[in-house]
Amino acid sequence: MTDTPLSGLLDEASELLEEAVELRRRIHLQPEVGLELPETQKKILEALDGLGYEITTGQRTSSVVATLDGAHPGPTLLLRGDMDALPMPEDTGLDFASEVPNAMHACGHDTHVAMLATAAKLIARHRARLHGRVLLMFQPGEEGHFGAKVMIEEGLLDGERAPAAAFAIHITAIDPAGQISTKGGPLAASADTLFIDVKGRGGHASAPHNALDPIAVAAHVILGLQTMITRTVDVFDPAVITIAHVEAGTTDNVIPEAAALEGTLRALTPKSRQGVMERAQRLVRSIGEAYGAEADLRIDQGYPPTINDPEMAEFSLQVAREVLGENDVEAMETPIMGAEDFSYVLQRIPGAMVRLGAAPPGVERPAPNHSNRMVVHEPAMTHGIAMHAGWALSYLDGSRPSPAR
Ligand code: NI
Repeated sequence: MTDTPLSGLLDEASELLEEAVELRRRIHLQPEVGLELPETQKKILEALDGLGYEITTGQRTSSVVATLDGAHPGPTLLLRGDMDALPMPEDTGLDFASEVPNAMHACGHDTHVAMLATAAKLIARHRARLHGRVLLMFQPGEEGHFGAKVMIEEGLLDGERAPAAAFAIHITAIDPAGQISTKGGPLAASADTLFIDVKGRGGHASAPHNALDPIAVAAHVILGLQTMITRTVDVFDPAVITIAHVEAGTTDNVIPEAAALEGTLRALTPKSRQGVMERAQRLVRSIGEAYGAEADLRIDQGYPPTINDPEMAEFSLQVAREVLGENDVEAMETPIMGAEDFSYVLQRIPGAMVRLGAAPPGVERPAPNHSNRMVVHEPAMTHGIAMHAGWALSYLDGSRPSPAR
């Protein structure tokens, strides 16, 4: 197959860990939120400088696309690292904790950048073995800002050399450090926001018959949605609705005119997502009508479900076993109900996202991603670096045909 086995990549990645840690800490210290991440972009460009990649940067975001042609022709492989932080304070007490008020890398995207930028170096060393092209996608705005969608609109997946497959790593602060896991099919959920307005008529709380109480109607809407979920959704294709924000009224003796609800809808397949959206619309409207009030549901559609190609997920587990050994690889049984905008890439091309554990060893209850105390065990990044390189060397080993011209 190839001149050296993939297992050698782990040693090579270990030698690069210090560099990755140093880059990660610099990014962690200076987190940026959203689609405009000029400082993070600068650090990526510095890290890639001199490695032989062809670089382009985004127009509507500070994305970076870096491509490297192997020594032989072949397909294009996309590897993603997302770049953005969360708008929240950091309370880790680390000496490289965020210096920026209300911004923290609490989802580990700093490690994603560091692993991918470091893997870029490792991959470049093995250029002679590559049959095809590696495309590194450094993406801003994953945390609800549709960064992947913007990059796709700017042509990321188009053209003669469009990627034939795509892979990404997401770090998780609660899984065992260094463990790679994934599954075929749905890996993460869709995330849509629900806004419900109920309009009744205000009046004296002692005489509800002279008013139309929107709070009672809103209560029925909340329970109706929960009943709809359990009675109409296939338990093997699950969906979740949580109404997490309820607002109505000002005092004890006034019936207000309106009530407002806000919540989230999560689903694992387009089918269950679509079905729940349609039934929720009908249910909210009908409950309002039943009581003579007006009830409207507006849905802000977020990311679609992240669906791994079954073959590419299996391929990823195989690569992980070859690169890391059996012990650090786990086939996931169930998806997670969080959401990811890598879903937009996977809607277009086959691929897979894998999870990489980075729980600090010996900590009984590690703080999860999105916690103000989230801490990453940095040596776990060695596995992420080696995994990226493993994908590249294995997918582009010459066994796959070049794209038809
Ligand atoms: Ni994330």
